[in-house]
Amino acid sequence: MPVAIEFSQRVRRIPVYPAAGGYAQQEPLVRLASNESPFPPLPAVRDAIDRALGTLNRYPDPSNSLLRRGLSDRYGVPETRIAIGNGSCDILLAAGEALLEPGAEIVYAWPSFSVYPHLAAASGARAITVPLDRQQRHDLPAMLREVTVATRLVIVCNPNNPTSTAVPLADIAAFLAEVPPHVCVIVDEAYCEFNLLEDPDASLELLGAHPNLALLRTFSKVHGLCGLRVGFALCGSDELPRALDQVRQPFFCNALAQAAAVEALAHQDAVEDRVTRTVAERISVDERLRALGIEPAESQANFCWFQLGQDTDEQVVMRGLEERGVLVRAGSALGSQTPALRVTYGLPEENRRFLDALGEVLQPV
Ligand SMILES: Cc1ncc(COP(=O)(O)O)c(C=O)c1O
Repeated sequence: MPVAIEFSQRVRRIPVYPAAGGYAQQEPLVRLASNESPFPPLPAVRDAIDRALGTLNRYPDPSNSLLRRGLSDRYGVPETRIAIGNGSCDILLAAGEALLEPGAEIVYAWPSFSVYPHLAAASGARAITVPLDRQQRHDLPAMLREVTVATRLVIVCNPNNPTSTAVPLADIAAFLAEVPPHVCVIVDEAYCEFNLLEDPDASLELLGAHPNLALLRTFSKVHGLCGLRVGFALCGSDELPRALDQVRQPFFCNALAQAAAVEALAHQDAVEDRVTRTVAERISVDERLRALGIEPAESQANFCWFQLGQDTDEQVVMRGLEERGVLVRAGSALGSQTPALRVTYGLPEENRRFLDALGEVLQPV
């Protein structure tokens, strides 16, 4: 018998990320489990990737200069206040490393994005989780009550993954006004383009008043580039971007990702078109869920979240959907105490297959 390797306390604390399955399967599946875009990269973005292929014998630009400039032009944030990452997850993990340590505290809502628990576990900091309100939205006043002298980081996920809900920007502004300036606040806006409550750029105005604020965004969702891994944070000061670069390896953003992201920024019209198509599906899927007797949370994202009813076996529903070629996420894997599902809005045909399958699984004939 081989001796089992003895790992660090840190590794024993870190939860395993609940990744979706099905990636190795060849057959055509309806993939609605990871909040990906159903739309392939734009032709111009593919051309930019093709052009960058010939440079792969060189390391990527370590300062991400063209992307940094493109983001600065697009969002009106100085280049030194922009952090870039190997996906926005990379920025979250680096923020945990830069800000947290034993004795420090991190505050976030729960259920929320599955990566947040990793930050406290990896650093030895204390995680303070604040339940969502009855509408499955962040309870910002309750979160504020948890901020202490020990708090180093607060994360507000808006719209929230997995519950799809958003809080109004005015509430976030009021929250920020009360958070002490030593506390870094990351507003995770991975899905902000799908939020019809606000103009996605409205939160940028908060940066001027709050040097401790970072708006976390990604090319993974609305730009459909999650296969390349590139995200960014627009920050209220240059302190956080500098610290994030200190704790990471150089060359964290690969050359193809940089080239693709720069090109993607030039196609705002396509982004808007994709949002419109996704929101049309959102309205239609939610309506058809209600016809099945299901009440989805008020989605401002590219996915929906709904309870299945106390007596429904979530795993049986998951298996039934999978047998019909439809992959979604079980609520229990994402922090729900009650049977629930998170389902990405796909193309019209994919959504139809999901809804037909769900109807069959819930009401077997
Ligand atoms: C709320 C939230 N933040 C961040 C991310 C990370 O995205 P990426 O690392 O692909 O930029 C995700 C991905 O699902 C997410 O749901």
